[in-house]
This record gives sequence, C-alpha cells and structure tokens, in this order.
Amino acid sequence: MKIDILTLIPGMFKNVFDESILGAAVKNDILSIETHSFREFGDGRHKTVDDTAFGGGPGMILKPGPLVEAIRDLRRQGNPGPVIGLTPQGVPFTQSVVRQLAGFSRIILVCGRYEGFDERIRPEFDLEMSIGDYVLTGGEFPAMIVIDAVARMLPGAVGCRESVEHDSFFTGPLDHPQFTRPPVWEGASVPEILTRGHHRMIEDWRRGKSLVRTAIRRPDVFSRLDLTTADGAIFQECLNTAPGVEV
Ligand SMILES: C[S@@+](CC[C@H](N)C(=O)[O-])C[C@H]1O[C@@H](n2cnc3c(N)ncnc32)[C@H](O)[C@@H]1O
Repeated sequence: MKIDILTLIPGMFKNVFDESILGAAVKNDILSIETHSFREFGDGRHKTVDDTAFGGGPGMILKPGPLVEAIRDLRRQGNPGPVIGLTPQGVPFTQSVVRQLAGFSRIILVCGRYEGFDERIRPEFDLEMSIGDYVLTGGEFPAMIVIDAVARMLPGAVGCRESVEHDSFFTGPLDHPQFTRPPVWEGASVPEILTRGHHRMIEDWRRGKSLVRTAIRRPDVFSRLDLTTADGAIFQECLNTAPGVEV
C-alpha cells in the first residue's frame, strides 16, 4: 500500500515510521509512505497557502488553489486512491473505516492547519474523516494515527494475523481481559480457568468477559453487536458466575 500525505510540515513525519511494526512494514515493502509539502504550490514569492477569512474572524484559512493543485499533481503522478481530508467535522474514524481503507492500494491523506480548509476544497475529498471529538492544531497527528491503524491491517504487517483479529472492535466487542506470568502477583491471581488448558472453556470464558465488558464499558458498541443465541447464553453465564465482576 502506498500512502501520500499532503502537509505543511513534512518534518513532523521524520522517523515516525522507522521503528517497530510500521518500520518493518516499510522495510518489507508492505507499506510505502511519502510526504509532500503543499507549500510548493503556494502563491507568489512567499508560497502563501493561507489567508484571512471572508466575513472576518480569528485565524487563517487554507486557500483552495495550492491545496487543490497539490492533490491534482498527485493524481497526475498516478495516485488514483481516495483523497481523505482530515477534519474534526468528518466521519468518525472507526475500525470499520480502518478495514475499508486497508483495502485500497493507494490513498492520499490531507492535513489541514490553522482554522482549516476553505470550503471550496471539500469537493476534492472523497471522504472527510475525524479521529475524535476534539480539535488538534493540525492534521499531522491524525494522519499518523490513520496510518498506524491501517498498516496493522495489511497482510504480513503484524506477524500473527490472529492477534489483530482478536483486538477490540475487529469483530465488534472489546477484547477480553489478558493475563501473563506470574500466576500470582501482589496477591492477585490469574483466573483459574485460564491455567487448566481446556481450550473450549477458555474460549467461552473469554467471549463472556468480552461481551460483559463491552456491555458495561461501551453500551453503544454492545447495542450494535450481532449476537448469536450461544452468545446470549455465554453472556448470561458470565454475569451469573461473576456478579459485580470487575470490568
Ligand atoms: C485547528 S484545526 C481546525 C478546526 C476547524 N476550525 C473546526 O473547528 O472544524 C486545524 C486542522 O487540524 C486537523 N484536525 C484537528 N482536529 C482533528 C480531528 N479531530 N480529526 C482530524 N483532523 C483534525 C484538521 O486537518 C484541521 O483542518
């Protein structure tokens, strides 16, 4: 997958994709990332990309010309992928969007700055996306978050595919509680069922915890789950055997 990033601060991406899982994905040609400064397309001697708002008000607005020209230049260079404008006003970035994006071989991420985009840039976007209901100073951190989440979906990026598929939100609910050695730490024991090696029972226990945890912590997510009759029974069993369970 190739991701082009349009930004005013390409330096922010320096070394971000050099380490760990993303670094390996880049080294193994699973992922390629290129930053482009759209200031290159700015107006005049100073390469101006922003101006004051019509109607007044604080802050500067990104002018349509330079940014749209930068997008068209990427198109001319052969990137046919969706253009994604990063904005707090976009659709929420969820795991289901992550999976859809991972299906493209190329995408373009557009990072805003200042007070955001001139409205006439918006028709160039195939999608406007928000990483959450808060406002950052620019689209660079959102772009990094999008790339990290999408990259780990790419085949071969994460060594064990199964671990990705068990993560929260991948199939819907939150992940189940996890434990590792030692079996007892500061008086807190690992649930006995996990130490017995009975795979079917462990699977049911984990499913039950995952469902109960989701119901309590994220009722919005829980209400959207497509539960089977077996899930209903496991959920009830989990509630019955551990009432008031810590979640
Ligand atoms: C200060 S923000 C502009 C906010 C804009 N005035 C508004 O209220 O919608 C500058 C840039 O940061 C990026 N940004 C800030 N918060 C974001 C978020 N939650 N999701 C995605 N991008 C965000 C966008 O690219 C935005 O154009």
